[in-house]
Amino acid sequence: MELRIATTTDADAIIGFDHVAASDVARVQFIHEQIESSACYIAVIDANVVAYAVLNYKFYDNGWIEMLYVHPQFRGQGIGSSLIRHLINECRTPKLFTSTNQSNVPMQRLLATLEFARSGLIENLDDGDPELVYFKRLRDNAT
Ligand SMILES: CC(C)(COP(=O)(O)OP(=O)(O)OC[C@H]1O[C@@H](n2cnc3c(N)ncnc32)[C@H](O)[C@@H]1OP(=O)(O)O)[C@@H](O)C(=O)NCCC(=O)NCCS
Repeated sequence: MELRIATTTDADAIIGFDHVAASDVARVQFIHEQIESSACYIAVIDANVVAYAVLNYKFYDNGWIEMLYVHPQFRGQGIGSSLIRHLINECRTPKLFTSTNQSNVPMQRLLATLEFARSGLIENLDDGDPELVYFKRLRDNAT
């Protein structure tokens, strides 16, 4: 498996397996924007893009994993975890944050396995499904 930054030629493959992108032009736009700003990382197996993740610095200037999405047919094989481990290595700030819905148990398990700690909760984004914030300290001082 290859883990690398996505380029514009990878956009169609990502949009092809992200089921949200199939019906949401805002998601398609988001994918294009993140690729253009070199914030989109992909996992590639046998020349096929099987997952993508977005690492940017929009969360109070800290590293922020804004997205992780694994092709449905490739879940449960460690690909999501590998991509997050890669982002942990790539992150330029001492603190790395992410979030997921309270209903998203697979993502919570993945984050717990990678030793992310809970860091609060945001109500009122999705009705009845709070956003759980997670945090991982990568190093003591800014480098
Ligand atoms: C949440 C999500 C990203 C997880 O990705 P994934 O690639 O399935 O995650 P992993 O395979 O790394 O880990 C999931 C499970 O597979 C297990 N696993 C890891 N390596 C494995 C391997 N080689 N073989 C079999 N299972 C393995 C893990 O132990 C984990 O099991 P657990 O849930 O019992 O702890 C994926 O389900 C997804 O894309 N969901 C839709 C989008 C989403 O919800 N994104 C997150 C919110 S932004």
